Amino acid sequence: MSPSLRRHQRDWEDLGDLDPCWAILAYPERRYGRWNLDDFFRSGEQEIGRLVVDMERLGYPARRERALDFGCGVGRLTRALAPHFRECYGVDVSAPMIDAARKLNSAFSSCQFVLNANPDLRIFPNGHFDLIYSVLVLQHLPTRAAIATYVGDFARVLAPGGLLVCQIPSHIPLRRRLQLRRRLYGILRGLGFAPDVLYHRLGLFPMRMTALPEANVRAMLSAAGVRILEARPDAMASTAIESRTYYATRPVARSLPEVFGKVL
Ligand SMILES: C[S@@+](CC[C@H](N)C(=O)[O-])C[C@H]1O[C@@H](n2cnc3c(N)ncnc32)[C@H](O)[C@@H]1O
Repeated sequence: MSPSLRRHQRDWEDLGDLDPCWAILAYPERRYGRWNLDDFFRSGEQEIGRLVVDMERLGYPARRERALDFGCGVGRLTRALAPHFRECYGVDVSAPMIDAARKLNSAFSSCQFVLNANPDLRIFPNGHFDLIYSVLVLQHLPTRAAIATYVGDFARVLAPGGLLVCQIPSHIPLRRRLQLRRRLYGILRGLGFAPDVLYHRLGLFPMRMTALPEANVRAMLSAAGVRILEARPDAMASTAIESRTYYATRPVARSLPEVFGKVL
C-alpha cells in the first residue's frame, strides 16, 4: 500500500473510532456523537428512494441482482439498498466503520460488509455488479490518480447494462481547500498526540476534500469505457462546494448478427 493510501486509511480509522456518523454526514449540530441513529438511517432510505426513481426514469440497471455501496461507512445506504437488490455489498477502507456496519445491520441478511484496503476493487470479478453507488467518498481520496484508479475499476466490475452512480465535487472554494484543521491534525498525530485529544479537546479532524472539474470526470469515465447518461448538480451544491452526481452505464456488447442483422 502506498504511504498516502496508508495515511488516508489511518485517517478514516480515526474518524470511524471518534465520531462515525458525523464523519459520514458532517452536519455541525450532529458533531460529537449527536446523531440520532433512526434519523441517520432514515436519511439513507430517503436517498435510496430518490435513486430508485432515477433508476426507473433512466431504465438502468437492466437487472437488480447485486449492488455495491463503495465507501459504505456504517452501512447507511447499503441497508437501504437491501429491498431493491438480491445481494448488497458495502465496501470500506476503515476497519471501525466495517465493524460498526456489521453490528448495526445484522438484521439485513442480504448485506455483506467487506474491508478493502487495496487501491482498486481487485477482490471482485469483472461485470459483478448491476449497481455501483458511491457518494461522499471519492471526494475524500488523497489524489486525483487514486480517484481515477477506483473509477476505472468501477467500470470493470460493472455488469453490462448496469448503472454506475458516483458523486464528486467539481469546485471547492479556496477557504475550504486550505483545510487547516486537517493539516494540523496530521502534524500533531505524527508527533504522537492521541486522536481523542486532537478531536475532543482541540477540535481537529483529518477529513480531506478533493474536487475534480466535470470535464475531467467525464474524460475519466469515457476512458474507463462507460457511457455517461447524465451529470447533475447534487445536494452538496447548496453548500459553498459545487458537486455533481454522474450516472453511467456499461454498454451491452452486441453480437455481429445483431449489429448486421438488418443489412444482411
Ligand atoms: C463521508 S463517508 C460516506 C459513507 C457513505 N457513502 C454514506 O454516504 O453513508 C466516507 C466513507 O468512505 C470511506 N472511504 C474512504 N476512502 C475509501 C477507500 N479508498 N475505499 C473504500 N472506502 C473508503 C470512509 O472510510 C468512510 O466510511
